[in-house]
Amino acid sequence: METKVCIIGGGPSGLLLSQLLHLKGIDNVVLEKHSRDHVLARIRAGVLEHGFARLMREAECGERMDREGEIHEGFFIADAGRLNRIDLQGLSGNSVLVYGQTELTRDLYEARDRMRGVVIHNAQDVQPHDLDTERPYVTYRDRDEAMRVDCEFVIGADGFHGVSRKSIPKSVLREAEKVYPFGWLGVLSHTRPVSPELVYARHPRGFALCSLRSQTLSRYYIQVPLTDSVEDWSDDAFWSELKRRLPEEVAARLVTGPSIEKSIAPLRSFVAEPMRHGRLFLAGDAAHIVPPTGARGLNSAASDIHYLYHAMLAHYERGDSSGLDGYSAKALARVWKAQRFSWWMTTLLHTFPDSPAYDQRLQQTELEYLLSSEKAMGSLAENYVGLPF
Ligand code: APR
Ligand code: PHB
Repeated sequence: METKVCIIGGGPSGLLLSQLLHLKGIDNVVLEKHSRDHVLARIRAGVLEHGFARLMREAECGERMDREGEIHEGFFIADAGRLNRIDLQGLSGNSVLVYGQTELTRDLYEARDRMRGVVIHNAQDVQPHDLDTERPYVTYRDRDEAMRVDCEFVIGADGFHGVSRKSIPKSVLREAEKVYPFGWLGVLSHTRPVSPELVYARHPRGFALCSLRSQTLSRYYIQVPLTDSVEDWSDDAFWSELKRRLPEEVAARLVTGPSIEKSIAPLRSFVAEPMRHGRLFLAGDAAHIVPPTGARGLNSAASDIHYLYHAMLAHYERGDSSGLDGYSAKALARVWKAQRFSWWMTTLLHTFPDSPAYDQRLQQTELEYLLSSEKAMGSLAENYVGLPF
């Protein structure tokens, strides 16, 4: 098989880039390790920066997102029993769109189908080759048949556990990581959300988050020790712990119900540099991971895709490869700003039981300063709605 761009990974990053390139007549193929059902069964965050939403519309995939997504002009920080609203619209002039990533990925797949895009599922043992030549290629196995994709560029959109980042020589690759001493226990339930806007709760017992997917589908999280397992948490235990971490007025409104999904995710910050090696370009979780506190994961992938899309366009339409040559530095500049913001929000809102008393007081002071300063909240708001691409 021959194509211009071989995209490894059929998650949001790979599908969005595939759609954008195809709309401009740039031939591409997506190789996805798993089935479509497997990909769509993943439960992921649901807050989209306005830049991501704009990119989805540019990719002609934004119609259901705009119809079913909820515009959120603010969110709450709960602390010491009080709710403090962060007025995103008033502070930054922008809002965010709450729309589940699973639905967004479904929209991307359906758009690929409409355009007869080539998305190959169950591609096993995907392996890029000759990345330091002008004719790289990617091999994979379709059941027992060995397959090969000859191409001009390879996009590594295969997530944190993918093969692409590992294809960059260890002598070239630099990785920076920070692991947090806790995880998030998340529950999805067919219940009315407790609040029309998200509630990020700081509490001595641990962080909690009240989010939603729709007016009938709620998403809640509580900070738990890394030693906990899902089996340790019955639904009743989860709901009563969540209530203890919320202000009374919020806890009193909480509608509980059976969990339809329950899982524990560890929190990690991670960046791999460079995001380009020869004809290989990394995008999304393949290159960087953030703790979910700031809802930056998918949104960081969006700017990678935006830069790659315009760089590929310039290369193929005008023979201008400056975008490709500058991709890694440009993408990393914004990636690290998202890393900073995610680290800051995580450090601000979670309990760190083993940290020294000085650090605990510093955390309290950071929050008091934030809530007392229009300028500090403005900085939070501009990061949360999304810094410019
Ligand atoms: N070969 C082919 N496909 C692979 C391989 C491989 N060796 N390894 C992983 N994949 C696929 C995965 O099955 C997944 O569908 O690559 C895709 C990567 O998708 P994501 O992990 O979702 O990463 P990305 O598309 O960058 O999206 C980033 O989505 O998953 C969330 O938390 C993540 O919010 C972040 C955003
Ligand atoms: C979610 O709805 O899953 C969600 C929302 C905001 C976050 C993290 C997760 O910061």
